[in-house]
Amino acid sequence: MYKHLYQRFLAAHTSELHFACHSHHYWPDCSREAHLQYWDDSCKYVDDKWGYIFSTKIPQAQKLIAEQLKISCPEQIVFAPNTHEFVFRLLSSLNWKKSLKILTTDSEFYSFDRQINRLSEMAEFEVVKIPTLPFETFHERFEAALLSESWDLVFFSQVFFNSGLVADIPRLVAKAPASAIVVVDGYHAFMAVPTDLSSVQERIFYLAGSYKYAQGGEGACFLYVPSSTRHRPLFTGWFAELSHLSAVGNEVGYPTDALQYAGSTMDFSGLYRLIATLETFKKEGLTTEAIHQWVHRNQMLFLQKLSGKSHPLLQRSKVLMHNPDHHGHFLTFELPSTEDTQKMVKELASKGIKTDSRGNRLRFGFGLYHDEQDIQELIRRI
Ligand SMILES: Cc1ncc(COP(=O)(O)O)c(C=O)c1O
Repeated sequence: MYKHLYQRFLAAHTSELHFACHSHHYWPDCSREAHLQYWDDSCKYVDDKWGYIFSTKIPQAQKLIAEQLKISCPEQIVFAPNTHEFVFRLLSSLNWKKSLKILTTDSEFYSFDRQINRLSEMAEFEVVKIPTLPFETFHERFEAALLSESWDLVFFSQVFFNSGLVADIPRLVAKAPASAIVVVDGYHAFMAVPTDLSSVQERIFYLAGSYKYAQGGEGACFLYVPSSTRHRPLFTGWFAELSHLSAVGNEVGYPTDALQYAGSTMDFSGLYRLIATLETFKKEGLTTEAIHQWVHRNQMLFLQKLSGKSHPLLQRSKVLMHNPDHHGHFLTFELPSTEDTQKMVKELASKGIKTDSRGNRLRFGFGLYHDEQDIQELIRRI
């Protein structure tokens, strides 16, 4: 039903069943035109390009993103090429001269996890990671940890990249101490899991990007910054100067708007592609809710058909899932070992099925370019 949006990528992979779209998503055709438009605009505007992008393209993207997240102040969204840049900018807003307490989970993506592991080699950084499993008790355990300390930074994913399980943002935010900067990594949720940030928009930073379910490819990540934020990130760039600066004495000035979290010169072609995909989805009536329904239906069909297969490893009972209606867009099988999992990824690849894995977890991603026939074919090949 939605394959017409992806004609080029599908034509380039006619025999492959691509079930790794949680990692690398096929790009809709509209993103190609957008990519070329970036070239044309670079040619047209030359020295005036940043002016054009900041006055026209960025507000367009901010509005489209804010609509999906139910945020009432789109101007509080800022862009960077990857989320790591934001992660480090947020960390650099903490006062590194004192000891810092950071609360997170054991299931954060490497951009944060590796960085925080490196920083925790320094005596000033105390990092506590709450295990996400067993998920039945995750929220209680994270809430208890939130209440136990005066944290400086609280960082957790909305959808965990190694399971697809979904955290309840308002519930956790309600227990976060006032001392903490609260950051939610929404990369596996944005344009996948219906999200309403209206009740927490004054409290949380929310980061995500275009590479996965927004389907615009790499290079266009964003951070939502609560409007009362007055930070002075140590890791800064000149884009901050595109806004009005407020400074005390000889200090470096920072804007009071979201550009306090901006970096420097970047390739905005990703932003063009992101705008094109979000506009196309809008035209097609594909809200996050509608996309989620489509994917959820295919996931349930897959699980139902799989039960009839009696596969030695790929069994329904091995899928990490808490609430089937509110799960990320990939299904994660927990297999006995990493070796078994890597073998299974290879075996599936030999049958023309693209999946991926993290340790002993095998992930099957579902997208708009899968229909019932693809699910039947997937089951047949397995
Ligand atoms: C949860 C999560 N956050 C962030 C990212 C991307 O990080 P970065 O933009 O730093 O490459 C990914 C990529 O897979 C992810 O799964």
